[in-house]
Amino acid sequence: MIIYLNVIGLYLLWTVQISTCDICSTCSCTIFINEEQEINCHGKHLANNDMLNFDLLTLSNHQILNKLVLSKNNIVNLPRNLLKKLQFLRNLDLSENIIEKIYITMFIDLNSLENLNLSKNSLKTFDDSLLEVLPALLSLNLSYNDIDSIEHLMNNTITKINTLDLSHNNISSLPKEFSASLLNLQYLDLSFNKIHSLENCNLIHLHSLKKIYINNNFIITLDMQALPKTLIELHSGYNQISEILYNLVHIEILNLQHNNISALHANLITNNLQSLNISGNLLSDFPNIISESLKVLDISNNKLTYVPEVISIKNFPLLFQLDVSNNPVENLTINSDLKLNLFVANKMNMLKNIEKDTLANLRSPSNDCINLTISNNKMLTFIHEDALRHMNLCSLDLSNNQLSYVAQKLIMHSSNFTIYSVNLQGNPLKCNCTLQWMLNDLVPQLYTTQPRLLDDLRCAWPSQISNIRMVHWYGWKDQVFCASTSILKENLTMNVASVVTTEVIHFDSSTGLLIVVGIATTVLTLLIVGGIVWTQKVAIKRRRINRKF
Ligand SMILES: *[C@@H]1O[C@H](CO)[C@@H](O)[C@H](O)[C@H]1NC(C)=O
Ligand SMILES: *[C@@H]1O[C@H](CO)[C@@H](O)[C@H](O)[C@H]1NC(C)=O
Ligand SMILES: *[C@@H]1O[C@H](CO)[C@@H](O)[C@H](O)[C@H]1NC(C)=O
Ligand SMILES: *[C@@H]1O[C@H](CO)[C@@H](O)[C@H](O)[C@H]1NC(C)=O
Ligand SMILES: *[C@@H]1O[C@H](CO)[C@@H](O)[C@H](O)[C@H]1NC(C)=O
Ligand SMILES: *[C@@H]1O[C@H](CO)[C@@H](O)[C@H](O)[C@H]1NC(C)=O
Ligand SMILES: *[C@@H]1O[C@H](CO)[C@@H](O)[C@H](O)[C@H]1NC(C)=O
Ligand SMILES: *[C@@H]1O[C@H](CO)[C@@H](O)[C@H](O)[C@H]1NC(C)=O
Ligand SMILES: *[C@@H]1O[C@H](CO)[C@@H](O)[C@H](O)[C@H]1NC(C)=O
Ligand SMILES: *[C@@H]1O[C@H](CO)[C@@H](O)[C@H](O)[C@H]1NC(C)=O
Ligand SMILES: *[C@@H]1O[C@H](CO)[C@@H](O)[C@H](O)[C@H]1NC(C)=O
Repeated sequence: MIIYLNVIGLYLLWTVQISTCDICSTCSCTIFINEEQEINCHGKHLANNDMLNFDLLTLSNHQILNKLVLSKNNIVNLPRNLLKKLQFLRNLDLSENIIEKIYITMFIDLNSLENLNLSKNSLKTFDDSLLEVLPALLSLNLSYNDIDSIEHLMNNTITKINTLDLSHNNISSLPKEFSASLLNLQYLDLSFNKIHSLENCNLIHLHSLKKIYINNNFIITLDMQALPKTLIELHSGYNQISEILYNLVHIEILNLQHNNISALHANLITNNLQSLNISGNLLSDFPNIISESLKVLDISNNKLTYVPEVISIKNFPLLFQLDVSNNPVENLTINSDLKLNLFVANKMNMLKNIEKDTLANLRSPSNDCINLTISNNKMLTFIHEDALRHMNLCSLDLSNNQLSYVAQKLIMHSSNFTIYSVNLQGNPLKCNCTLQWMLNDLVPQLYTTQPRLLDDLRCAWPSQISNIRMVHWYGWKDQVFCASTSILKENLTMNVASVVTTEVIHFDSSTGLLIVVGIATTVLTLLIVGGIVWTQKVAIKRRRINRKF
């Protein structure tokens, strides 16, 4: 650390001594402890002054420069010899400029360049001979340009590049020779383009490809035969896929969310698949498949009217995360045994009740706990007090349902509720004596461990206290919910002011709530009186001042 500070210190001295037109007077220059140098000129308006044409040429003073950031400078063209002597440069960031065309000769001497970022420019075409003049290039970012064609002009077909980001362009196809030259490519992002068919992209030649993003395009048929067999992750959400042909044995992560899939063929789920996201499709059924590896399954936003019983420990022994949200399910009964770490059932607009046995087959894994989220269900008014009795919960989210009552037994069952988080916010809770336990046990617990779960924990009833947060009564000794109800019972239409007057007179019989309301009223009255007196004083003073002039 001390050595590092010394290096910086010496370096600062050195920069000060250098002529004022040196690039370090405008950009920030850093030497790292391993002697690597970095010059960062992000957002320095270099294109608008002479800096770019003159000072950048002094970069030859920094021949061991490893990283050069020229992003966000309105650069249209780089001076021809700018990068000539930077033979140690490994990272070059030219993103967020307005470069329309790449002149290959500019890059010819960058023999060490590994990462080139041309993202967020105005490129219309991309000529792959750039890959040829940069022999060490590993990663190229061309995202957020206007590229609609990729031209194959390179002679040599061996490139080292392993990461290519072409997302957010206007690409509908890739030339065959181009993809055939990407022998080492492992990561390809083609998302947010205009691809209608995978065949047009000649992806089958990418013999090392592991991850591909083709989400947010216009693909109708997902023909997996057009993809290399090496693929492990396929991100193909937000297309118009209605048909899936074949499958790929090695795929571990398959994202198909927001497409037009109405049926899944049994062969889709291979024995290597670990995560399947088929949220936002038209599924009304689920195939009876076995997968020894499936861990995460998202079938939310479909047309399922029940939780498919083929989703079970028997078929998916490793499954630990299941999302069934936003399906037209009226009866949430889990019909097969499941042991999960996370179960999510949100936005089920037809779900009204959760009975004693509804979740009986859903368990937490042995020696582990389950995060249970059943929230934003606008018809859900009832959860049986024994519905979760058999689960070892790590968190319970019942927020934004229509629950007016939550049994103490539901929350504080056999497991030690003090160690998990309970979210009951956004429910129209009826704060009568049966919910006094929340003030006694839940509120103090959340107050110390998860105070943000008290932000929207409110009473909806009785009307006198509707919308008041429960934390308002934190630390009160009285059984507030019990007391107020008994008083309110005497006269439901009685307004708060009249309660205060009667109760303040019979002070000994008043409840904590009423005392505080009484004190509050007194304070308010004093303030009002004080306010009147003060206004009058000010008015008098003003009159006096006015008289003076
Ligand atoms: C550009 O890419 C480089 C490395 O490839 C990275 O360090 C940098 O953060 C990227 N810039 C932007 C704006 O994403
Ligand atoms: C490419 O750059 C964009 C920002 O301009 C960034 O969001 C993206 O992550 C980069 N891609 C890679 C593969 O680093
Ligand atoms: C490809 O070969 C041609 C002819 O041999 C040559 O003129 C051209 O410069 C080469 N392109 C690259 C990028 O090396
Ligand atoms: C994308 O390409 C189409 C033609 O294929 C063209 O009409 C459109 O203007 C292009 N869009 C952009 C943003 O360049
Ligand atoms: C989605 O599929 C249905 C039939 O399954 C079809 O009627 C509809 O046109 C398709 N929509 C799109 C956008 O392809
Ligand atoms: C599935 O995709 C949806 C939509 O993109 C996303 O919100 C959700 O988090 C994904 N599910 C999983 C388990 O990643
Ligand atoms: C829900 O379905 C289960 C079996 O699938 C059945 O036993 C139960 O009675 C149903 N509950 C309601 C309320 O219809
Ligand atoms: C369950 O919730 C706990 C805490 O709320 C969190 O640390 C853990 O990552 C969650 N597990 C899963 C599988 O989501
Ligand atoms: C519950 O857990 C808390 C904190 O871990 C601990 O202090 C308390 O003794 C436990 N109570 C019971 C009944 O196990
Ligand atoms: C409180 O309200 C619940 C349901 O809203 C009702 O079942 C219960 O009898 C009430 N308890 C008391 C003490 O008024
Ligand atoms: C109940 O409230 C009504 C209207 O505020 C009032 O007229 C009546 O006297 C009250 N009854 C009791 C017993 O306080």
